[in-house]
Amino acid sequence: PYLLTDQGFVNRDELYYPFEERGLQFGDGVYEVIRIYRGNYYLIKEHVERLFRSAKAIKINVPYSKEEMYEKLDELLTKNSVETDAKVYLQLTRGSAPRDHAFPKDVQANLYAYVQDLPRKVEPLQNGVTTITQPDVRWDYCYIKSLNLLPNVMAKQEATEKGAFEAILHRNKKVTEGSSSNVYLVKDGIVYTHPATENILHGCVRMRVVALTTQLGFPFIQAAFSLEDIAEADELFITSSTAEIMPVVKVDDIQVGTGKPGPVTQQLQQAYEKDAKIP
Ligand code: PDD
Repeated sequence: PYLLTDQGFVNRDELYYPFEERGLQFGDGVYEVIRIYRGNYYLIKEHVERLFRSAKAIKINVPYSKEEMYEKLDELLTKNSVETDAKVYLQLTRGSAPRDHAFPKDVQANLYAYVQDLPRKVEPLQNGVTTITQPDVRWDYCYIKSLNLLPNVMAKQEATEKGAFEAILHRNKKVTEGSSSNVYLVKDGIVYTHPATENILHGCVRMRVVALTTQLGFPFIQAAFSLEDIAEADELFITSSTAEIMPVVKVDDIQVGTGKPGPVTQQLQQAYEKDAKIP
């Protein structure tokens, strides 16, 4: 398997980093997870744009131009003969240098991207998943897709230990997002989600959900909802590049709506499959 790096393509076993790497020592970097259906990227433009936004926010120069990035990412798929459902993990760090909190002078950014198989799991998409709630203890700049994922990892682990699929995070009683997803509530045919402020990641699937919901004729309101609102909700769902549009049927001990995926979520799932050209 080939990896894309800032030095071009290398064999998977040939990628080496010195132990003084700022991604490893400080989490000083950003990343993307891009979905592939049948060998084709989905929402590639949204992901590349966000990569550049995240990098700019923490003052890292992406070693490729946007145009080059698109070309290299395409080449990554052809070189690895990707024809199935998969994902690309791309990581960009400030680079390797003797450890010092401040940016080292003349440091070169490290970038790598690789492909992993990701077959679609249809069962949870059809039946929904359970979730737990956790306080959102992250910093104020969650719109940056930063490598600092410890709060997300701890929240997801809590969910996993409770047999749940995702941890829904809340700050000042308002739901922000999931540990690795965006969260939406449906009430009386209206879809609500946290506004795209600095407190959440602006999900690429979220951007499509805004458009698809509107196309389907459902009002979409970007306003935060509270934990108490969940008890009154008709439907709840989460989205991400890996989870797609995933119905949530339980939050902690509370059953959502009828306890089964609802009609608005299901219509959005169909619209998503069409949009992503999933057969
Ligand atoms: N996570 N919010 C958070 C905190 C996320 O980590 C993610 C994605 C999302 C959804 O973003 P998108 O629709 O662009 O995938 C929201 C990826 C999948 C991950 O960390 O593996």
